[in-house]
Amino acid sequence: MSRRFTGSFTQQEPLPEAAVEAALRVLRHGRLHRYNTAEGEIAEAALLEEEFAAFTGARYCLAVASGGYALGCALRALDVGPGDRVLTNAFTLAPVPGAIAAVGAVPVFVETTEGLTIDMDDLAAKAAGAKALLLSHMRGHVCDMDRLMALCNAAGLPVIEDCAHTMGAAWRGVPSGRHGVMGCFSTQTYKHMNSGEGGLIVSDDAGLMARAILLSGSYMLYSRHRAAPPSAAFEGLRYTTPNVSGRMDNLRAAILRPQLADLPRQCARWNALYREMEAGLRGTPGLALIERPEAEDFVASSFQFLLPDWPAGRVRAMLARAAARGVELKWFGAKEPQGFTSRHDSWRYAPAQSLPRTDRILAGLVDMRLPLTFTVADAALIARILREEVSAVFQSGEELDEAPTAD
Ligand SMILES: Cc1ncc(COP(=O)(O)O)c(C=O)c1O
Repeated sequence: MSRRFTGSFTQQEPLPEAAVEAALRVLRHGRLHRYNTAEGEIAEAALLEEEFAAFTGARYCLAVASGGYALGCALRALDVGPGDRVLTNAFTLAPVPGAIAAVGAVPVFVETTEGLTIDMDDLAAKAAGAKALLLSHMRGHVCDMDRLMALCNAAGLPVIEDCAHTMGAAWRGVPSGRHGVMGCFSTQTYKHMNSGEGGLIVSDDAGLMARAILLSGSYMLYSRHRAAPPSAAFEGLRYTTPNVSGRMDNLRAAILRPQLADLPRQCARWNALYREMEAGLRGTPGLALIERPEAEDFVASSFQFLLPDWPAGRVRAMLARAAARGVELKWFGAKEPQGFTSRHDSWRYAPAQSLPRTDRILAGLVDMRLPLTFTVADAALIARILREEVSAVFQSGEELDEAPTAD
């Protein structure tokens, strides 16, 4: 009899006890606003920034309201504005082109490789005249950062890293978010640390970080920050930088600090799930794994594989069979966006762009969450189910009907 998986793909772990206690302390004293501190008290938000700066090796860090806010704030800090062309990955999630559009700039999408990273040749071809690259490490896949930075430096193109899926990851030992001028992270519930909503920006650039702090809504209280440039860096900016409020509060910062202390252990647990999935699926006929480069230290909170050049009807048949056995998959090839999986042709505020290589990849791209509520045995069972169902559909040639459906 075929086994069914009964776990939930959207259930996170509860927050650690230390986070619950920290939250209660903040709730009991009531000083949730980051600049509302008692005599001699250091705000939780300022402490989190200090600790996250140390974790990434950055000189400066700013905690903000969300990952999407972090991206917009970084773009504004770089003075990206109306009409500017900003390059970004064609394979990413909606908050990335959304952040570009929100400052009035024009998202220009760069093609995707089979490794799910940005296509360097297409990037080189599109670099001229662009104001910045908003590089999305989508689903935690890190491109060759040495090559990318060499290319962007030669083109004079500043790089903002979207590290929403790479907190704790690295390329050749350099933490994700530390290659470009600014690195932006998310602490939204589905990410590596969970504060419901939240974001972090890191940088070594005093001018950019002073602007980001003022933009985030520091008023003239910026000297209360600790992982921040000296007051002199704010002098020429404080009258001319608009307040675009998006601060993080002390409650969220308080629950993030114990999670940050535990992040390396959690990352190892995620990767154990990922490696189990990978081992269970390797060699499945009709399925291609995403190979991970040796220079990449990734942190998996999700798993992707390709069904290369499968007709849409066959992919749908496989998804339905997996769903019937309790395995919830997302497909980036569906014509209509569903849930979180919109794609470049759904973002119609951006000019329509021809991206044949990305379209080919997305047509066969299957995506799955790997929450830490799964055990390694769960991952083994899910891989077994997928192996069976992918093989069955692939070998039977099942469901080749191309009739349009609502997906
Ligand atoms: C790739 C990517 N970048 C940025 C974000 C934005 O993060 P947030 O949800 O914290 O605004 C997300 C959120 O899902 C994301 O997946």
